[in-house]
Amino acid sequence: MATEEHKRLSDVVKETHLSLRAECRRYGAQTAWERHMARNDVLQKYAASMQKLATECWADNNLNSRNGTYCRMEWIKTQCKDYFLNGGKEKYDEREQDISTKIILEKTSDEDRKTQQEPTHVNDRLQKFHERKISILDVGSCYNPLSVDDAFDVTAIDLTPAAGVLRCDFLNVAIGRETVLSPDSREIHQLSASSFDAVVFSLLLGYMPCPRQRYTCCRNAYDVLKSGGALIIVSPDSKHVGANAKLMKSWRYTLSKLGFMRIRYEKLRHIHCLAFRKCRCKAVATRWADLQCFSEDEEKYMSETEMFIPQDFQDICPQGRQEDLDKYDETELVDVFSELPFDDEAPSDL
Ligand SMILES: C[S@@+](CC[C@H](N)C(=O)[O-])C[C@H]1O[C@@H](n2cnc3c(N)ncnc32)[C@H](O)[C@@H]1O
Repeated sequence: MATEEHKRLSDVVKETHLSLRAECRRYGAQTAWERHMARNDVLQKYAASMQKLATECWADNNLNSRNGTYCRMEWIKTQCKDYFLNGGKEKYDEREQDISTKIILEKTSDEDRKTQQEPTHVNDRLQKFHERKISILDVGSCYNPLSVDDAFDVTAIDLTPAAGVLRCDFLNVAIGRETVLSPDSREIHQLSASSFDAVVFSLLLGYMPCPRQRYTCCRNAYDVLKSGGALIIVSPDSKHVGANAKLMKSWRYTLSKLGFMRIRYEKLRHIHCLAFRKCRCKAVATRWADLQCFSEDEEKYMSETEMFIPQDFQDICPQGRQEDLDKYDETELVDVFSELPFDDEAPSDL
């Protein structure tokens, strides 16, 4: 059960998300984002609350958990190690090779041929992950939770950085030949393309108020990942596994069209956990999307440039009527942010 302090902190998080979504509907995504970025006090309060929630409240909960291994950070670390150190990547290299032989070569686009020919990909195949650290870009890192693990070389970025975290707005960062830092080395102005083994979005996408911004984040992740690299997404949802299945399917569709193959999905209590691989050959990834048949209802959510979350379909009440907020916002989001990772129950959705 959440304490008063949990609730106070989770209310700060929830209200920040809510007001950003309300402004997005009122002013449009870009203006809303600019206004949000100018509110340093709001950003600071959010960052402090989020860090306290994660490092104190959730950490305490986790001590009592029968399933502590499955908190989000453990899930992320386990996926990275399974994929890069324990044969997962090689397995998917082979699977991708098998699929690509089934695809008629004439139909592959010029872009696919280019991807296959990039010299970095050849080098990447030769890299031995036991001899070097796995490079991770942790987007919306907040307090750099992954840095404690020696297997990882973490670049942690956030809008409001804590110690060890670099300032960077991943929605608007340039991506080019090399990483460019500010003169004081505290901010990233440009990220190097095809340079990370893994990109992590832990509780990031729900912060974005509009579906197009979530897509932009995923497209940027695609651009900074090495070929064969992993995009790991953790997204809050207290409902049972089937409740938002069509949205999860639509994410898979969008990411597949972008060039990602889904390699792992688990619905744990309060969170969806997903891992995708940036395919060497884009046609292998898009094949999944092209083979799908969608019902009329599902069709509405399938987009190549937008990623929806349940809150996109909820009404937003004016300020001062918080008690009337839609049930999803009021109960789900508070539950998620006050109880994550898990208290004393085993995940019921597995
Ligand atoms: C809910 S917190 C998640 C923190 C941490 N990843 C975790 O799982 O505990 C979301 C974080 O994403 C950051 N964020 C949101 N949009 C961002 C963007 N465009 N670029 C970088 N960070 C962003 C926020 O500042 C916030 O710290």
